[in-house]
Amino acid sequence: MSEHVEILLSEDEVDERIRQIGEQISKDYAGKAVHLVCVLKGGSFFMCELAKRITVPVTMDFMSVSSYGSDTKSSGVVRIVKDLDESLKDKDVLVVEDIVDSGRTLSYLLAMLKERKPASLKLCTLLDKPERRVTDVKVDYTGFNIPDEFVVGYGLDYDQRYRNLPYIGVVKFD
Ligand code: IMP
Ligand code: MG
Repeated sequence: MSEHVEILLSEDEVDERIRQIGEQISKDYAGKAVHLVCVLKGGSFFMCELAKRITVPVTMDFMSVSSYGSDTKSSGVVRIVKDLDESLKDKDVLVVEDIVDSGRTLSYLLAMLKERKPASLKLCTLLDKPERRVTDVKVDYTGFNIPDEFVVGYGLDYDQRYRNLPYIGVVKFD
């Protein structure tokens, strides 16, 4: 089976939206520092671009959880592959994700991070597929709500490919 990618959100649209979210976060966290937690690998491109647009002091940490194999559907199984290096205690933590789909990964992750006693814990996602939600998750900052289609680019992969696309595209199977 072969596939091709059609552009859903252009590089300019994505960049402009990230700039807006960065501005909003800078206002909301005025007088504080924000500790960005990246969920690898998908969240990495978004977090780096977002961090560049935030004007309050920023620190960053990375973690990796797995909920997907090579398939396009959630397995429902969440496993910590790489934990954070630093403590979250008393920090204003902002989790940065590529996409919220079923919500299973995030609800598990947020509950776990909350136990580490951050001063605050918020969630920022580049993309959201609200139609697909199975588990309720409060999203504080959303880049774009998108339809229920499998997307790639800007960190998102299909079988580890396409993460490097500078835009968000939809995978079409020929
Ligand atoms: P959830 O637990 O179903 O919300 O899964 C979220 C994770 O699944 C995301 O962080 C992505 O890694 C992956 N995912 C969900 N939808 C897509 C998609 O359309 N393209 C690529 N990865 C996706
Ligand atoms: Mg992800």
